Amino acid sequence: MKGSASAPGKAILLGEHAVVYDKPAIAIPLSQLRAMVDFHQTERTFTICAADLKRPPWQWDDSAADSADPLASMAALTLRHLGVCAPTGKITIRSAIPIASGLGSGAAVSAALGRGIAGLYGETIANATLNALVYEVEKLHHGTPSGIDNTTVVFEQPVYFQRGQPIHTIKPSRRLDFLLADSGVSALTRESVTAVRQLLREEPARTNTLLDQIASAVASAQACLAAGKLLQLGELMTANHGHLRGLGVSSPRLDALVSAALQAGALGAKLSGGGRGGNIIALVEPSTRLAVERTLQSAGAKRVLTASLGG
Ligand code: PMV
Repeated sequence: MKGSASAPGKAILLGEHAVVYDKPAIAIPLSQLRAMVDFHQTERTFTICAADLKRPPWQWDDSAADSADPLASMAALTLRHLGVCAPTGKITIRSAIPIASGLGSGAAVSAALGRGIAGLYGETIANATLNALVYEVEKLHHGTPSGIDNTTVVFEQPVYFQRGQPIHTIKPSRRLDFLLADSGVSALTRESVTAVRQLLREEPARTNTLLDQIASAVASAQACLAAGKLLQLGELMTANHGHLRGLGVSSPRLDALVSAALQAGALGAKLSGGGRGGNIIALVEPSTRLAVERTLQSAGAKRVLTASLGG
């Protein structure tokens, strides 16, 4: 068997952090930004190469199955699901998704790897099953993940996600254009999630109010998406950035990028993902996209990506 498999990155439109506390959130797949896996069968060994993840080629043995390493763990979970005890083959992972920047790199690599290993054996894994396997690995990356990353990446659909609830995919009624601007700072989601948990312990009333405000912004944003109300959606995104600042997960650099996007005409802008670094996401109109992109670059963005939905 020989072939390839892939999975997209993702961006959170609204609701990060609150989603850890069972509030809803909205996320979109970034289909242009993917983790890819090439696979082919070999005679004896099972090797995983992931130079883009800055890892040396790595050969599977039985001890790898118990590893806390995300790649080894995803391989082990997939092989167990397939009932394969002595795997052979070569897997090469390539990923265009920046690491530790809130764009779903970990979930996308896991999903692509699971699909690639299944491909080696001529199998496909149903998305619901793959989602559950990737979620297990997300726990290694994040500690207490809500599940929004794996769900968006595996199903490759915009989702309105709430922990423990059936997955709702969203069909925007109009085309939406986004810019993602990278602060150039990598930050661990696990750490910002821990900081919010601590804030909740220290200042429960203020923190719970912020989490409730985020939940209500998400509910309004879903209605705006359905009705194609982009001005209001943008305002809700910007308001959500304010909530995330209140939770202490923004940074001067992220705030500067958000302000730059808004000043250049974005309809709304906010940090996206765990925060403290990573990316901001801005909602733009086709007429202002270029101006916002240039302004973000002048404001120090390390890279600006475009993404669109619907239309
Ligand atoms: O992986 P990131 O950085 O996009 O963060 C995921 C969003 C959080 O709400 C901060 C964590 C989670 O598990 O939902």
